[in-house]
Amino acid sequence: MDEWVTIAAPATISNIGPGFDIFGMALQNPYDTIMGRKIEKGLVITEITGPGADGIPTEPEKNSVTIAAKAVLDMVGADFGIEIKIKKGIRPCSGIGSSGASAAGGAYLAHVLTGEKLSPSDVVLCAAKAEGTTSGGLHADNVAPCILGGFTIIKSYDPFEVMVTQPPEDLGVVVVMPDVMVATSESRKVLPKMVEVKDLVFHVGNATSMVHAMHTGDIDLIGRSVRDAVFEPARSHLVPHLKDAERIAMENGAVASFLGGSGPCIISFFKKSVGNGQRIADAIREMYTQNNMHCDTWVTEWGSGCRRL
Ligand code: HSE
Repeated sequence: MDEWVTIAAPATISNIGPGFDIFGMALQNPYDTIMGRKIEKGLVITEITGPGADGIPTEPEKNSVTIAAKAVLDMVGADFGIEIKIKKGIRPCSGIGSSGASAAGGAYLAHVLTGEKLSPSDVVLCAAKAEGTTSGGLHADNVAPCILGGFTIIKSYDPFEVMVTQPPEDLGVVVVMPDVMVATSESRKVLPKMVEVKDLVFHVGNATSMVHAMHTGDIDLIGRSVRDAVFEPARSHLVPHLKDAERIAMENGAVASFLGGSGPCIISFFKKSVGNGQRIADAIREMYTQNNMHCDTWVTEWGSGCRRL
């Protein structure tokens, strides 16, 4: 019997203001755990546990872990199958890349079991196609950081080109997950089909300054570059008290506060050396409690991509 291999697939922040479907960042917490071992043939899921596990399909052709793993096995031409156990640490419909972590973890697991023959970009592409089948459109801004770590930029989808850079060490992240579910496929349906030139100019300016800020380690400029004239405004009605949460984060020392991916998570950036992430998290939780809503919070930082445990 082959040995089990265990992969940690981290939560990720996508969009990060102006970079819709382009920017992504890996987080240290929370993360999914995906275990797999070689079997003679086929892909089979024998266990799914953790938050939201009940709603996740176990059929291999419907689950993004197995769809992504199969894409890697097919690309390599592997002559074996995989038995998989999934422990969700990231609740589905959260806005911090739950389905992305599943797809990335599945692709990375198959990549490890096949002897790491693919390029990192090909592993990302296999995961992106798998996530695209379950989330309403091809987008790699969660799976790219989930596999590569750090801050990632999808330069283009066709041909597929992705690059990765390291955010500043002093960048802290607060994640607040209100108790509401937002499916990416639904959240993409509310987006406008066209954007105005003035909004395009606004996004290009902020996206380019975001990349400059990452390279120069300028956390204040990262904060000023988290601007979104199109996507968050179209989605804000999906997340109760989003604007209050963002305002409270800024009042408590955050350098930026914004909608994570397609929602509902609210992400706040702060400087670890001078700020207090727990204070930001507690203040937002207090506001939700006063409004009779539960939320989960994590005070974390950016991290590496999928790794063996
Ligand atoms: N860029 C995608 C979106 C990420 O905003 O729809 C989904 O998590």
